[in-house]
Amino acid sequence: MSPSKEKKKSAPPAKPAKPANKRSAGRPKPAPAGKKASPTKAVARPAKPKPALFRPEVLVYSTLENLYQETAHLVMQTALDAVNARGRFVAALSGGGTPKGLFQQLTEEPYLSLIPWGKTYFFWVDERNVPQDNEMSNYRMAQEHLLSRPPLPKDHLFPMANGAYPADVAASFYENKIGKFFGRDQLPRFDLALLGMGEDGHTASLFPDVPQLDEKERWVVGYTPSAALKERISLTFPVLNAARLLLLMAEGKHKADRVKSVLAGPSDPPKYPVQRLRPVDGRLIIALDADAASRWKPSAK
Ligand code: 6PG
Repeated sequence: MSPSKEKKKSAPPAKPAKPANKRSAGRPKPAPAGKKASPTKAVARPAKPKPALFRPEVLVYSTLENLYQETAHLVMQTALDAVNARGRFVAALSGGGTPKGLFQQLTEEPYLSLIPWGKTYFFWVDERNVPQDNEMSNYRMAQEHLLSRPPLPKDHLFPMANGAYPADVAASFYENKIGKFFGRDQLPRFDLALLGMGEDGHTASLFPDVPQLDEKERWVVGYTPSAALKERISLTFPVLNAARLLLLMAEGKHKADRVKSVLAGPSDPPKYPVQRLRPVDGRLIIALDADAASRWKPSAK
């Protein structure tokens, strides 16, 4: 990512955090099968895997334009690396307003030519349970701002819902769609999950204090967070945290207070779902414009 000179690399979050052990050091070896441990020798018990820590790389850009230019470069680099390594680039997209500027960049040169669109596959992080031509639809937003220009094969798009089924049914259908694509024997690993953050600290469609925050088994959930928010379908944290890169973007002064609470406030994941973004074997980048970062100061480390 060729950052602008104003970029502020963050120090890790203020809270005393032991260096996250990104790759588990592996569990202690249990006594070899068939061999009883001698009564005097304690049998090594596999240690409980350490919960990953909330340790974002926070990048701040002086202008919104700069944020979009730099995140477009990062998406392109991630796509090229993924195709080199695995022959395809599989991303899950968020909706809302923030990604629009990034999507616009990706439909222009040099990205229009450099991104390997023929080997790119788009899923969605979350969706409102509405028809795909509804103005609230994240799929429609992507169609309008990203998908119409790049030469992306139609069967490389995996929309999440169309309002035809109740949210929980749509969620299980989508989980099957993901399982068919990645296989069901392990968590699906997206090369990129593009995320935003609401003013309440939600991400994807995982809102503060909802039980879906604690979902450990299902890959996709469908529910109604509130009457105002209507029915939502969302990837769950086990899937998000299996991604190779979580790229969360936030812009604007209206996000500044929440950015400060999430990055420098107490750890309170039920209140701030963004704090549950803890990639098991990947990166979490939080990319901000100066306005969104205006109330947050990296801890001096
Ligand atoms: C959605 C998004 C959601 C979004 C945040 C931020 O369906 O709305 O996926 O999680 O990222 O609400 O939205 P803005 O980018 O519009 O601030």
